[in-house]
Amino acid sequence: MPEIPSMRGKVVLITGGTGGIGKSTAMELAKLGATIIVVGRDRGRGEAALAEINRETGSDSVQLMLADLSSQKDIRELAGNFMAHYKRLDVLINNAGGLYGKRWETVDGIECTLAINHLCPFLLTQLLLPVLRASAPSRVVNVNSEGHRFTKRINFDDLQTVRWRRGFLVYSQAKLANLLFTYELAERVAEERITVNAVHPGIVETELVKRFFSERIFSNTKYISRAVSFLAMKLSRLYLKFDDPGKAAESCIYLAASPEVEGVSGKYFNNEKQMVPSSAASYDKTAAQRLWQVSGELTGREEAAFAASAGDPCHAGLNSARRTTIALWRQFTSMSQ
Ligand SMILES: NC(=O)c1ccc[n+]([C@@H]2O[C@H](COP(=O)([O-])OP(=O)(O)OC[C@H]3O[C@@H](n4cnc5c(N)ncnc54)[C@H](OP(=O)(O)O)[C@@H]3O)[C@@H](O)[C@H]2O)c1
Repeated sequence: MPEIPSMRGKVVLITGGTGGIGKSTAMELAKLGATIIVVGRDRGRGEAALAEINRETGSDSVQLMLADLSSQKDIRELAGNFMAHYKRLDVLINNAGGLYGKRWETVDGIECTLAINHLCPFLLTQLLLPVLRASAPSRVVNVNSEGHRFTKRINFDDLQTVRWRRGFLVYSQAKLANLLFTYELAERVAEERITVNAVHPGIVETELVKRFFSERIFSNTKYISRAVSFLAMKLSRLYLKFDDPGKAAESCIYLAASPEVEGVSGKYFNNEKQMVPSSAASYDKTAAQRLWQVSGELTGREEAAFAASAGDPCHAGLNSARRTTIALWRQFTSMSQ
């Protein structure tokens, strides 16, 4: 890993920092001296993670904030509490994610995979934009997955997968949605010194993977599909090269802290810290704008809220042509001064 400078004085909020890749990321960033706010939904698991991070790093600057990120009310309270306690946010890591073996709906009546992997980062990031702006240059890191490549387009006719397909494809669509959001947001905040990037951390046998297989194997679906899931689990253990969470955290830390990616925005990185193209579907601008609108409706964050939070007509926009015109106009006027 390239040399990462001290992060003393920087504030990092990481969702899903109580286990798996998120906990390893929080641990390494704490070693670099950052103030870390770990978001978890369970006090016991959260406090255990905090104690472990404190013990391993000697840091006394790691705090826990509780929120069930499947609940939009909790996400709003989290953003409010955070801004009441902290005046800056240098890095937001949207790491919490889920892959489910069976379909369930959140308290908001939204399919869980979409809610946690896409709508949570969509809502939380927008709610925290004022403090990200106040701390610029600041960074947003969305933890994504190579799994996004399995979906060729967002199915707007069944975005919440009411006709539940195999869980992995549902996850794939949610991660594609998260990438479309990443690129659209990067464009919207391009002039504000906030960078927005996505990363595939690698394949790690975390709770997410274990829970997925066990939910599939012990589900009440047909015997044959349970047997296929069992076989898939065995084969994945034989043939997939699993990383450890520490290795997987490296790309997240790179995006959160390395000077090499200062100013880099709207990009996708692999688990080797290389900037790589994501799938063709993730660059579909029409889909990105439609998804933004639909996600706004599902979270109560419609265009007007984004524009108001920016306080700038440049952000009012579904219309990227208009944003481009304004950007060009700004460049022209600054050149002619
Ligand atoms: N593992 C892989 O192979 C892999 C591959 C590619 C991408 N990823 C991505 O990497 C990220 C981290 O995954 P992981 O493998 O480290 O998974 P993990 O071990 O299951 O950790 C997920 C974290 O998210 C938290 N979380 C889940 N649902 C939550 C909710 N409703 N409210 C609050 N917190 C919640 C979990 O908290 P609890 O402790 O309370 O459950 C946990 O801290 C995810 O975005 C995942 O999609 C993972």
